[in-house]
Amino acid sequence: MKKLLLTSLLLSASIFAADGYEVYKNKCQACHVEMMTAKYALSHLNELVAPPMVEVSGRLKENIKTTDEEEDVDRYLFILFVKDYIVNPNLDNSMCNTGAIEKFGTMPSLKGQINEDEKQAVAEWLYDRYENTKF
Ligand code: HEC
Repeated sequence: MKKLLLTSLLLSASIFAADGYEVYKNKCQACHVEMMTAKYALSHLNELVAPPMVEVSGRLKENIKTTDEEEDVDRYLFILFVKDYIVNPNLDNSMCNTGAIEKFGTMPSLKGQINEDEKQAVAEWLYDRYENTKF
């Protein structure tokens, strides 16, 4: 039942959705590189203005883990977190390590620059894009 409910929530949310990858390219890519190995990132830290997306996705997945056996629940919570963070970024919510925050500063809020559909689409993309990819 719970699974059915979540599935229909997710489905209904994505019928009219924007394309998540397009949203990423237009609103995130200027700061967040899509793909990079940890080794490359470490040796090119000075060229980065934000953590690469592959790192962000993996770290959030490690942090947002419930004991629920349904994988959908973790994905759903991940999406909620991302949708909120991009319009309300703040230190208390950030799961970045302190070193990264010191280097990059807190993300500027995208409030007023991104609509509900785009937030949903980009958050789903951020989860699904790196399904089988590790940083
Ligand atoms: C102007 C630069 C900039 C843009 C544009 C930007 N970000 Fe960020 N983002 C940052 C920085 C810097 C951090 C690292 C510090 C922090 O966690 O706030 C960050 C961190 C994050 C985090 C990690 C939060 C955490 O707890 O670790 C997420 C998720 C995120 N960004 C998503 C996005 C998405 C999605 C977009 C596009 C819709 C986007 N960002 C656009 C600069 C940016």
